[in-house]
Amino acid sequence: MKTGVVFGGSGLIGGTIVNFYKQRRPGVVDMLAPSSKKVSLQNCQDIRNYLFATKPDFVINAAIANLNADPQLSFEVNYVGAINIARTAAALKIPYFFFSSAATLPQGSGLLETDTLPLNALLSNYAKSKLMAEETLNYMAANEGLDHTIIRLSIVYGNHDHKIQGFHRLLFSIADESMPFLFTKKGTMHSYSNCRKIPYAIHHMIENRQEYSGQTYHFVDPEPVELADLILTIKSHMQLKSPKKVYVPYSVARTGKKSIQIVLRLLTKIGLRATLPPELMFLGAFYRTQTLSSDKLYSSGYTDPMVGETVYTRLPDMIDYYLNRWAHQNLITTLGKKIEFDHQIHEEFKHNPMSLVESIQRDSTAPFEPDTQ
Ligand SMILES: NC(=O)c1ccc[n+]([C@@H]2O[C@H](COP(=O)([O-])OP(=O)(O)OC[C@H]3O[C@@H](n4cnc5c(N)ncnc54)[C@H](OP(=O)(O)O)[C@@H]3O)[C@@H](O)[C@H]2O)c1
Repeated sequence: MKTGVVFGGSGLIGGTIVNFYKQRRPGVVDMLAPSSKKVSLQNCQDIRNYLFATKPDFVINAAIANLNADPQLSFEVNYVGAINIARTAAALKIPYFFFSSAATLPQGSGLLETDTLPLNALLSNYAKSKLMAEETLNYMAANEGLDHTIIRLSIVYGNHDHKIQGFHRLLFSIADESMPFLFTKKGTMHSYSNCRKIPYAIHHMIENRQEYSGQTYHFVDPEPVELADLILTIKSHMQLKSPKKVYVPYSVARTGKKSIQIVLRLLTKIGLRATLPPELMFLGAFYRTQTLSSDKLYSSGYTDPMVGETVYTRLPDMIDYYLNRWAHQNLITTLGKKIEFDHQIHEEFKHNPMSLVESIQRDSTAPFEPDTQ
């Protein structure tokens, strides 16, 4: 049995990798996933001590500072942390998988792995730190014997995104009926990355290091998707009336965003702290086509484990999962009435908790038998 380490194992992508090895490949890899409390990527000694002590066969970096983190946190976690893992991986002579992002790429269609943005001061903290990490990892592969693979993701979809970011923020805005019109331009296309497929690619790349070492790959579904069509499909799955099929021009949307920013600044003057809703931070991207070519990956030895599965085919299951989750967390109320809870438990927990305590104490408190399997 191999040992692997994933940093960011509580996140959307890291969590999916941990779950894959637990559920789909039991007994193949012991996947360790220290939390940021145990091993912070801001602390070089934490990284070194942990990796030298556990001596894994490979290491994956799926950790990331918040998207709106300040320059220092972005630099320390996304760049220096990534490089300190690489230095330890090079010392241990183990493969290192680094997740990067389409934020390192310009707008355009069919973008190749080589089409990166030039590193410059105007980039967002996130894009800048990812580009810097990519560049230094490639330098270390050429000069320090690092065995690494960079996997660039676009808009990731999948269950268990507990922070409600990216695609799931879009889903949330529609479910919450807080998107009255289409904040995009007709024909704006994007690439999407299927979270469920990522662990299969990682597993294949671990088994075939010669082919994948020192390489960067785009991990996206081959067919790009029109944002307006996706929004309207989600709306029809949820049987909602909004958003209406009216395209809001970027100039209007941008003015709205600026007005909100001014209000937020005024609020700080009276001691209230509020930040821009995450969906508005990426407003510009809703109006720009950015599609990534997946040809390099699909012409390698990797084969798609779920051919034909796309963001569209996954929608019914994801909608079911997220609506239940958000309704239970009291995050959405509009759709709450359509969701079926276990009615009896719901009512008893609300009105008669003592009867639940009595029932649990009567039937379900005996010490568990040791597992005989
Ligand atoms: N999700 C997307 O749409 C998307 C798109 C493109 C690229 N990516 C890339 O995919 C990777 C994973 O993203 P994700 O969406 O899975 O992220 P996520 O759900 O936000 O999870 C972030 C993870 O990073 C960990 N983390 C944060 N600060 C840390 C620190 N100082 N030290 C150690 N760990 C720390 C968190 O651990 P704790 O909970 O323990 O703090 C958490 O497990 C990132 O590299 C991201 O750039 C994601």
